[in-house]
This record gives sequence, structure tokens and C-alpha cells, in this order.
Amino acid sequence: MGLSISAHTPSRDTGMLPLFESREIGKAFGTTGTAFVIREGLDASGINQLKKYSLDTSDAELQKTSDFERFGKGSYEDWYRSKERTLFALIEENTGTLAALAWFGPKPLGRKSMKHLSADERAEDERAMDSHNWHTIVYRSYPPFRGTGIMKDFVRFCMDTYLKRHPKAKLWAGIYGANPASIGLATGLGFAIRESFASDTEETIMVKE
Ligand SMILES: CC(C)(COP(=O)(O)OP(=O)(O)OC[C@H]1O[C@@H](n2cnc3c(N)ncnc32)[C@H](O)[C@@H]1OP(=O)(O)O)[C@@H](O)C(=O)NCCC(=O)NCCS
Repeated sequence: MGLSISAHTPSRDTGMLPLFESREIGKAFGTTGTAFVIREGLDASGINQLKKYSLDTSDAELQKTSDFERFGKGSYEDWYRSKERTLFALIEENTGTLAALAWFGPKPLGRKSMKHLSADERAEDERAMDSHNWHTIVYRSYPPFRGTGIMKDFVRFCMDTYLKRHPKAKLWAGIYGANPASIGLATGLGFAIRESFASDTEETIMVKE
């Protein structure tokens, strides 16, 4: 399993992409022959698919995250405008199906995700917070692609691309509830649980070594 990825020659980095803009930054091939494209940013089709996935209450794993509030009830547009996030998408080439996402952005270590914040905390502008160079990493894969072994290569490619642009960024992941797949993936990407960065009963914090 895994992906074989080829990156396109990077165009000049122009910072965050405007809303609805998306550019192809690479191609990926699964060992079963599935072809994917890797895009930075989401176009309207990607945003629609993300909303639909996020509203799918039969996806118990996904519903452990804040995506129902963030992209289902809430809007991607509002989220994108109010955060400083760089988002990468893995899309099945033949069908245009959104298979997986990874996103990154400055966020103070340990700050909770949306559904674990009070209304007042949610209203705070994260962009105005000093993150001390901590940046969050977040990832999703969607059925039928989930569990097929594509995530480590995809997320590593995204992480390397992001860190080239933000060489001083220190990455952390906040993992809610029992989530062995997420902990396994983060471990495979070189993240570890450190006692000095206290996890609590609801959230496991892992930092990139
Ligand atoms: C977490 C998530 C992104 C992992 O994606 P996935 O499609 O299961 O990942 P893959 O099949 O590519 O496996 C990735 C790695 O994790 C490991 N892994 C997967 N499931 C695992 C499990 N239950 N226990 C231990 N390790 C596991 C795999 O062995 C693989 O490592 P390898 O490449 O070294 O073999 C996916 O399960 C998901 O989106 N879940 C719902 C949303 C979510 O929880 N997101 C993360 C919130 S922090």
C-alpha cells in the first residue's frame, strides 16, 4: 500500500490562496493503480463534498471531530476567511472524488478545536494570537479511501510542502477520544506524545520531533 507521489515544479509562493481557488501541486498513484491529483485549496466541488461528508452522521469516526460544526452546520467559507489555514486535498483523478484532506496553520499549542470551545472562546480571532510558532496539523480520509494506506505518504508530502514555506514552524496535533488510526498515523509521521506538553482526558497532544 502507499502512494507514489510526484510533485510539480513549485510556482512562486504567493501566500494563502484566495477562497475557491485551487491549484494542482502533484500527482499520486496508489499501489492498486488508482490515480490521484494533489491540490492546494478547494474549489466549489471540493467544498460541496467536504460539507456532505461532514454532515454524514453515519461516519462515527469523523463525527469525533469538529467537522459537523465547522463545515456541516458552519461554512467552509467562514472558516477559511477567519483562519490562516493552508489546505491540501487528495482527489481521485477519474471521478473528482475528494479522498483526503490535510490542513495546517498557526495555532497555540493545546488550543482546543471548535466543538470543545465556549462561545466566547470561539469568537476569539486566532489570527491575532501569538502561536509562538506552533502550527496545527489536521487530516481526514473519507470512505472508501479510509484505511487503504494512502495517508502517510499524502500527509508527509503536504507536511514537507508546508514546512518548506514555514521552516520555523513547530507542528502539533490534537487528537480527541480514542483514535488509534490517528495516533498510528501521527506516530508514523514522526510525532510523539511528550509529558511536558500535557494531554488531558479528552485530547492527546502529539508534537513533531
Ligand atoms: C485518522 C485518519 C486520517 C487515518 O487515515 P487512514 O485512512 O486510516 O490511514 P491509513 O490507512 O493510510 O493508515 C495510516 C497509518 O496509520 C496506521 N493505522 C491506521 N489505523 C490504525 C489503527 N487502528 N491502529 C494503529 N495504527 C493504525 C496504519 O498502519 C498506517 O501506518 P503505515 O502507513 O505505517 O502502515 C482516518 O482514520 C480519519 O480520517 N478518521 C476520521 C477523522 C479523524 O479522526 N481525523 C483525525 C483527527 S485527529
